Amino acid sequence: DKGGFPHYMLKEIFDQPNCLRDCMRGRLFAEDDMGGNDAYDPSTGYADPNVHNDVVLSAVRNNRDRLLSASRFIIVACGTSWHAGLIGKQLIEHYCKIPVEVDYASEFRYRDPVIYPTDVVIAISQSGETADTLAAIKLAKEKGACIFGIVNAVGSSIARETDTGIYIHVGPEIGVASTKAFTGQLTCLILLALALGHTKGTIDEKEYVDMIHELNAIPAKIEEVLKHNEDIRLLARTYTYATNFLYLGRGWNYPVALEGALKLKEISYIHAEGYPAAEMKHGPIALVDNMMPCLFVATHHKGYEKIISNMQEVKARGGRIIAVVSANDDEVSKIADAVIEVPDTLAPLAPLLSVIPLQMLAYHIAVEKGLNVDMPRNLAKSVTVE
Ligand code: F6R
Repeated sequence: DKGGFPHYMLKEIFDQPNCLRDCMRGRLFAEDDMGGNDAYDPSTGYADPNVHNDVVLSAVRNNRDRLLSASRFIIVACGTSWHAGLIGKQLIEHYCKIPVEVDYASEFRYRDPVIYPTDVVIAISQSGETADTLAAIKLAKEKGACIFGIVNAVGSSIARETDTGIYIHVGPEIGVASTKAFTGQLTCLILLALALGHTKGTIDEKEYVDMIHELNAIPAKIEEVLKHNEDIRLLARTYTYATNFLYLGRGWNYPVALEGALKLKEISYIHAEGYPAAEMKHGPIALVDNMMPCLFVATHHKGYEKIISNMQEVKARGGRIIAVVSANDDEVSKIADAVIEVPDTLAPLAPLLSVIPLQMLAYHIAVEKGLNVDMPRNLAKSVTVE
């Protein structure tokens, strides 16, 4: 049931606020200004009066020692899930001070990787059936690593192969292009990093509580971003001519740039490259001309000033610029041809907001081109071939 939307993809984009509420329910306990809990325990239907401003994950509680004694985390995934993994690395390193590697499952499994029994391998998968991810965790398990799953499909092959983990709980994703699973994966990774960092004592108490409050506010902020749908539809019309697109971001938003480019490629068949913005001058800038639009993810966080200079470099070469910016930004609009505003939030949560306009842009460009967005050519929802 498309719930009145023309495509599953658009429905799933719009479902994200409620999907993330489902994902956080019973895990995130944020005390509101009135002193009550916004999140509640689904087993009782009531807010748990004993839990205040906390993240509770049974997977962390029950495997505390194993997770905290890990010398290293290795994240394995494919496609969009791998992009979530890149943000997961930043989160776990920042909040837990544990080194994290991120690998394509297909590269990891065929490379003869070094795996220690003290490693924790995190598999991220929407379908839970991706053959390469499944093979990667089987290999890691044989070598004695602990396997932690972040999986959407309950009871799937990957979920069954893991030692512990957290379900994404965003409901079945039908559109081939992943949208709500990505923001759900990010939410799980944020919850994991917060719970683990708090247990370990590597996260400052104020930062912990601030993150809990901000995360709790994210679904409503996504609702704000979704209000730009019509503007983005109109913007999309301007770009159906493009045959190439560059997506650029830094820091927390660098993986968002990769994800935006992947969305555009897979459903609109426009070649798009995602790059960390600073890498542009090491090659891709040679491609920039007035036929290649550049999308900058330029929210008001660390690296903002630098990304403005990157934007100026593109502008000087005649490139067309679309930018995703934080609310009340008045710098970027002087340079960019079009800006899309997202509400302000804490830097580690920025991807949850900045990816939404990119999903909508890819969707509308594909629809304008008359393409089948729910079933793009050559792609399958579960990649069970190797
Ligand atoms: C992109 C997309 C794919 C999947 C990838 C992994 O929109 O859907 O790149 O992310 O095939 O799939 P899962 O997460 O099911 O393992």
